[in-house]
Amino acid sequence: MKLSSISQVILNLALGVSAGPYPAPRSPGCSSHVYPGPVNAGFETGTLDGWEIVSGDTFGSASVSDEISYWGGPFDQVGNFFLWGYAQAGDAAVGELKSSSFQASSVMSFLIGGGYDPDNVYVALVRDSDGEVLLKQTGQNDEALIRIVWDTAAWAGEMVHLLLFDNSTAAFGHINFDDVRTGCDALGDGDLTFNVLGQSNQPAAGSSEACTLYASDPLRPQFHYTPYQGWINDPAGLIQWNGNHQLFSQFNPAAAVWGPMHWSHAESTDAVHWRELPIAMYPPYPNNPDDTSGRYTGSAARDNATGALRLIFTDFTDTTFHPDAVPEVVSTSASTNGIFFPLYPDNPIIGEPPANSPSGFRDPKVFWDTAASIWKLVVGSGDNVSGKVHLYKSADLVDWVYVGVLYEGDGSTGVMWECPNFFPLDDKWVLFYGGNGLGWYQIGTYNGSTFVSETSGLVDAGPDSYAMQWYQDESGRNLAITWMGNWNTYKWPSRVNGWAGQQSITRELFIREDGGLGSKPIAELASLESRTTKSLTSQTITSVLNLGSAKAARLQLEMDVSATTASAVVIELFSSTAESVLLTYFVSNQTIILDTTNAGYGQSGTWWAIIDIPSRKLNLDVFIDRSSLEIFAADGTVITATIWPKYQQSSDIKITAQDGAALFNSITLTPLASSWC
Ligand SMILES: *[C@@H]1O[C@H](CO)[C@@H](O)[C@H](O)[C@H]1NC(C)=O
Ligand SMILES: *[C@@H]1O[C@H](CO)[C@@H](O)[C@H](O)[C@H]1NC(C)=O
Ligand SMILES: *[C@@H]1O[C@H](CO)[C@@H](O)[C@H](O)[C@H]1NC(C)=O
Ligand SMILES: *[C@@H]1O[C@H](CO)[C@@H](O)[C@H](O)[C@H]1NC(C)=O
Ligand SMILES: *[C@@H]1O[C@H](CO)[C@@H](O)[C@H](O)[C@H]1NC(C)=O
Repeated sequence: MKLSSISQVILNLALGVSAGPYPAPRSPGCSSHVYPGPVNAGFETGTLDGWEIVSGDTFGSASVSDEISYWGGPFDQVGNFFLWGYAQAGDAAVGELKSSSFQASSVMSFLIGGGYDPDNVYVALVRDSDGEVLLKQTGQNDEALIRIVWDTAAWAGEMVHLLLFDNSTAAFGHINFDDVRTGCDALGDGDLTFNVLGQSNQPAAGSSEACTLYASDPLRPQFHYTPYQGWINDPAGLIQWNGNHQLFSQFNPAAAVWGPMHWSHAESTDAVHWRELPIAMYPPYPNNPDDTSGRYTGSAARDNATGALRLIFTDFTDTTFHPDAVPEVVSTSASTNGIFFPLYPDNPIIGEPPANSPSGFRDPKVFWDTAASIWKLVVGSGDNVSGKVHLYKSADLVDWVYVGVLYEGDGSTGVMWECPNFFPLDDKWVLFYGGNGLGWYQIGTYNGSTFVSETSGLVDAGPDSYAMQWYQDESGRNLAITWMGNWNTYKWPSRVNGWAGQQSITRELFIREDGGLGSKPIAELASLESRTTKSLTSQTITSVLNLGSAKAARLQLEMDVSATTASAVVIELFSSTAESVLLTYFVSNQTIILDTTNAGYGQSGTWWAIIDIPSRKLNLDVFIDRSSLEIFAADGTVITATIWPKYQQSSDIKITAQDGAALFNSITLTPLASSWC
């Protein structure tokens, strides 16, 4: 479906929605000092002419490549050639490559790919006179190239050179490099301006409050939980305890990649505005960074006897370093002040998996079994043929007795189920879990020991939802937060800014009309709507409606499908002349398709869902947050994705009707404020 086939009449309503109330990221000035960059700055000679091999054997004549793509997609080089650090001698080789000397301009930029390893794989800007390293940048553990902008005004006019440094023999122990630009060309392509990425553009953690720290990073969501540095994955320990919502995350503060797992900790009075608290739990062997032993995913409960906040989690031991250990056991810690979580001295509380659990044994989730008036927990497992969920019971949250297998799959949703959650909802019981890299639910009945599934489906129709966790808040709502990531992608562009991973907004779960599991955004998100909403009513779109642009906003619309003659409507998000996300709704088959194949640096693909519109009204509620996209349909469908635009201009929002007219009863675009300010 080509947008160019649409008639050229454009309704530009220019709603005047601008960036948030907080300081937006800016580009440095470019024109005061402009000098040529190094010789053969984009390797377009097809050789290393102008570059000097300083040491090692990782760089050589085979390093310059005109390959277009690798196993994960295009390299995205500029021109024909680029430096592919793997091509000459693989990951195991090391070495250094130096550019010719050049005078520093006010600004420069380049493309980098390859290993994320700030100490061992990087490009450095080095001053000729004293050899001082002025700036450094590492890659993102992906072959694809990403644009880094360096403000070099402080050294303008001085003689400098670039040093490509690879001292890693590990996987991704290589650096890719291309297209060094200086002066105003460094900042963009024609009318388009690059998002200013790179570690040197990020304020140091602790130098400022999260509000301003996060505002300055163009990729950083403003109302989602992200780590100030390092990596997060699964949300854990969700609970409203003594009034405050608690959000823990699997966390590696040392690097923006998975590693020895800590539990980060944040709390909130409304499940929208988060406040970072000290790390709740640390891995057991911090002195050996190669030992991946850590505190894996788990859950929280309020101890009935003491009122304490108890965490119950998988204690993982790396058997490379501890060959006699049981790798996955269940341990606990408890806090009376909500800050310090001392470990229970008699850990583990479940010392080994039950029989027939060879695929794994992890992610205990505690719930109060209303049928039996006792604590229960579910834990994920599998027997190499199908995933399964084990059930335990306890009177005091510490002594656990095995009940049996709560539920077992048929293998189609994976042979190891992670992060199971089990809870009553309306008059049913809901089981959801992660398997085969996706989130699945089953809804059915439960008799105290066994679950019988009646309905099943995907928890989320988009790419970036895994390890969702449920909790019931003090008002009795069933809430959930999901990790906006997945294990299949190599695309973590924010690694170049020193962080990776984000948690979704808080959702409320409900049983859909069709009996499936539905999600909707919690009502408290309206508290972010600090400025004027722009709204339209009774809008007939026959071609294109430009809604304006926004980087942190909520788009809500209702389309009257009965009064629509168009075959499809396309909602363009994160859009500029160079890139955009396409969200297409096909009227004939009620299918919505998310297309990210031309949406910047992230994972590209298409994902779809069929939307139920019993009253012939399509209602969508879309949350846009710099690199986050969450799309909720009124029937309970949710599509969660991360989006990583290349250009600052990629924030336009447009609606196009194809082959006819589309009638919208209402369209509102509301800027959302930072939840950290
Ligand atoms: C490269 O790494 C090795 C082993 O980790 C280390 O001994 C050496 O000092 C490093 N070389 C440089 C130039 O940093
Ligand atoms: C224990 O706590 C749970 C969860 O907060 C609650 O539902 C239950 O009623 C409590 N049980 C007792 C015996 O107090
Ligand atoms: C099951 O899978 C695990 C993990 O892949 C493997 O270590 C184990 O040998 C397998 N066990 C059986 C019984 O096939
Ligand atoms: C629950 O159902 C299972 C499977 O039908 C059965 O084996 C078990 O005895 C039942 N348990 C109770 C407490 O009714
Ligand atoms: C719905 O229709 C569109 C347009 O014909 C098509 O591309 C899409 O594959 C269809 N989806 C389903 C689920 O049939």
